[in-house]
Amino acid sequence: MCGIIGFTGHLDATKVLTKGLAELEYRGYDSAGIAFFENEEIRTIKTAGKVACLKEKVEASTINDATCGIGHTRWATHGGVSDTNSHPHTFGNVTLIHNGIIENYKELQAELALQGKTPISQTDTEIAAMIIDDCFDGDPIEAIKKADARLDGQYGFCIMFKGIPGKIFCIRNGSPLVATHTEKGSVIASDMVALIDYSKDYFVLPEHVIATLTAEDITLVDLEGNNVEPEMLHVDWDIEAAMKGGYDYFMLKEIHDQPAALMNTITPRIKDGLPTFEADNVPDEVFTNCNRILITACGTAMHAGLVGKNLIERIARVPVTVDVASEFRYNDPIMDEHTLVITISQSGETADTLAAIRLAKEHGAKTLSIVNVKGSTIARESDYVLYTHAGPEIAVASTKAYTVQLSVFYLIAARFALVTNKFTEDDARDYITKLQQAIESVNEVLANEKDFEDVSASLDTAENLFYIGRGLDYCLAMEGSLKLKEISYIHSEAYAAGELKHGTISLITEDMPVIAIATQNGVYSKMISNIREVKARGAKVILITNGDDQNVDESICSFQVSIPKIDDMFAPFTTSVVIQYLAYFCAVRRALNVDQPRNLAKSVTVE
Ligand code: AGP
Repeated sequence: MCGIIGFTGHLDATKVLTKGLAELEYRGYDSAGIAFFENEEIRTIKTAGKVACLKEKVEASTINDATCGIGHTRWATHGGVSDTNSHPHTFGNVTLIHNGIIENYKELQAELALQGKTPISQTDTEIAAMIIDDCFDGDPIEAIKKADARLDGQYGFCIMFKGIPGKIFCIRNGSPLVATHTEKGSVIASDMVALIDYSKDYFVLPEHVIATLTAEDITLVDLEGNNVEPEMLHVDWDIEAAMKGGYDYFMLKEIHDQPAALMNTITPRIKDGLPTFEADNVPDEVFTNCNRILITACGTAMHAGLVGKNLIERIARVPVTVDVASEFRYNDPIMDEHTLVITISQSGETADTLAAIRLAKEHGAKTLSIVNVKGSTIARESDYVLYTHAGPEIAVASTKAYTVQLSVFYLIAARFALVTNKFTEDDARDYITKLQQAIESVNEVLANEKDFEDVSASLDTAENLFYIGRGLDYCLAMEGSLKLKEISYIHSEAYAAGELKHGTISLITEDMPVIAIATQNGVYSKMISNIREVKARGAKVILITNGDDQNVDESICSFQVSIPKIDDMFAPFTTSVVIQYLAYFCAVRRALNVDQPRNLAKSVTVE
């Protein structure tokens, strides 16, 4: 969601800020702004719309010697998209930017009204600026401490105070902030993508710790006034990983990144042909002491969890339930110390997923997270973490982060089965070999890119469609459907193929294309019968299959997409690439903004 950047040092701050905001665009936003010290005065430039509009405004202004400032991309929550509602917000001595939601802003606004103070915007953020100003008596740290006690909700703030040039003060509760200091100065941002230009070493600002950024250093104090030492982290990817590398879109690049990302994720966890989490410090007791698994996550990550359930139940024979994190904690889930709660998150900052972990811990359950971003809140708050190694994922539509999540579930299922004697070592070795082969075969799908564009052309006029499948293919249908809706804006619904005739088949006409996935041997013939049912009602069928069935011809499908023939339990890797391509090409053919679809944010840090 909102992007934050702050810089103070020896560079032109307006350039650092606008560049940083452009790098944070992928998070999703609708307006942008910066504020900076100029001749000891704070000046603000902001606008509804894109960072490019902001940049034009900045470049058209005469700005003298600005070396300290804050910048923000806003994803509207409270108040519409307008120049006034854009950040930074200024009230009295305080100018700030904010990522999060101030939940008690209405009460605070009423308190401030009694003093005759009224905001000019409709935002909760301006109320936060007013509260900090209300607490300010010349000492910024004291003001922030007092304000922290009055604010409820989630926040990451970067604050500048009138008359205190060259300094940025920051605090967070929930919303992420990462920072680094180099000889060029001090930089803080909502994620590493905007810091990597300056350093690969950084720290996550601990919650309720106040950071003071100057050109010389960054100091941290907690709310009791104690100095806090930052815990330094290191990212293992380079600036190139966050660039398009010659591809038209980040999404296309990230589709192509998958074989390497998958190998990077599984290889360190295979020893002597067997799955192991030794280096991740995940002891086998996590599995041997567990009689039930609850998986929870949001969106695509939840879809990875559905595949995880299928695998774990199939080979480790332990019951698994999967729930979307926004429902999980309101469903009063049954958990105790023998429950393992597995959460999945690319960003590691998704608010609902984080809330689920906190609830699981209250119930004494063990928490294991599968996370892509090192040091993120979900990773830090979980008992155990299995990091995926996808590198930065910039396109809003998740591709490589999803398949690496799948790969970790394949390893979890195998390790679980091995340590609970459902698998012999030979079984596990055979399974790992098949996993490696499946990942290899992703390259074969990538080599057929052009075919997917041709098939997508058949959906040029589609406004609605169905994705159908059975078993693992149904899990993939859900992901395919989400991907398509998200970036091509084609309304689509994923359906268990056998369930159509219980109501939904009434929607099937020649205007309702159906994408059918048929890779699972055990249900293959049933799936073909289900396809015949929709074909008989006029649907144009795109069939994704790994079979070489002689009976599959134009009588049942208009287009056939063949994926490599591998053990069907491992088909999700190759199928994933096909569904990603279909969504990608549908969006490209409709001339849509593939990487930044409307209304969406990459990381959803509010509930
Ligand atoms: C998928 O393409 C989405 N952009 C979205 O569903 C995403 O997977 C979800 O918001 C969860 O995000 P996370 O993995 O960062 O927690």
